Amino acid sequence: MKLEDLELISSIVHRRTGIVLGRQKDYLIDTRLAPVARQFGHISVEKLVQSIRSGCKPAEDAAVESMTTNETLFFRDKLPFDNITNIVIPELFKKRSSSAPIKIWCAACSSGQEPYSLSMMLYEMGLGPNQVSILATDVSYSMVERAKNGIYSQFEIQRGLPAKLLEKYFTQEGLTWKISSRLAERIEFRQFNLLDEFAYLGVFDIILCRNLLIYFDEARKKDILHRLSKSLAHDGYLFLGAAETVLGLTNDVVPHATAKTIYVRAGSDNAQQYNRSVQAVAFR
Ligand SMILES: C[S@@+](CC[C@H](N)C(=O)[O-])C[C@H]1O[C@@H](n2cnc3c(N)ncnc32)[C@H](O)[C@@H]1O
Repeated sequence: MKLEDLELISSIVHRRTGIVLGRQKDYLIDTRLAPVARQFGHISVEKLVQSIRSGCKPAEDAAVESMTTNETLFFRDKLPFDNITNIVIPELFKKRSSSAPIKIWCAACSSGQEPYSLSMMLYEMGLGPNQVSILATDVSYSMVERAKNGIYSQFEIQRGLPAKLLEKYFTQEGLTWKISSRLAERIEFRQFNLLDEFAYLGVFDIILCRNLLIYFDEARKKDILHRLSKSLAHDGYLFLGAAETVLGLTNDVVPHATAKTIYVRAGSDNAQQYNRSVQAVAFR
């Protein structure tokens, strides 16, 4: 691909999603645009880029979608799910007196494995849609459609899903597996771009924004973390991916006192527990 074409695609993707496609991604851009070029009837990626340059919006949308990395799996990393079951949900129920449901936001849900894992886990804890609801969003329209359909290949099913849960919550349809409608009852799926204002979505008790910030530059990470912390209930919990951290990016949230992968709002009771544990280590 020509340098000017690579630069055009990189700048559009950055402006529209926040994703940084560095020079080492040149090969990836070319590979991912090839099927988009075919889809729009162009004989080459160069022709596709020409049409984007001359203002073909559907081609631009499809090119941007193709640049999102949607890698995900059921119960990814396991620890966050164990922490939600063993620490977060019990702590929230202990603190809450009202019967309002606990609200979870999966802010980059990809093809749905993350919110469906949460839904299964919550049913296993005996918690239905009236007790815990989930908003699941992603910038990619096609991923949100896939997530809504809840149909997975044998390969996807084999990644992270325990056999016991497969048996209980999925039915086989030919070569694929469909989620039981019960799992989707507590989930609202919606296309949403985290670069847009999200305060109007409300306040959440638990936010998962996992394996997304790694694709963003520092300024964008800071901005999103700052705004996510505002969307977190005062005693809420934020989950990032295993390779992501808030260190050097924000003081709005701090690590949970005892559990890895969880962040809590600075100044909250949860954070004071963290401060006490840090002081205890310092005085040892
Ligand atoms: C690697 S997946 C992570 C999926 C899941 N959270 C997990 O950890 O398995 C990253 C997702 O972020 C989405 N994404 C990228 N930019 C986004 C943006 N600006 N707003 C919302 N989602 C975005 C992508 O479409 C992709 O599905």
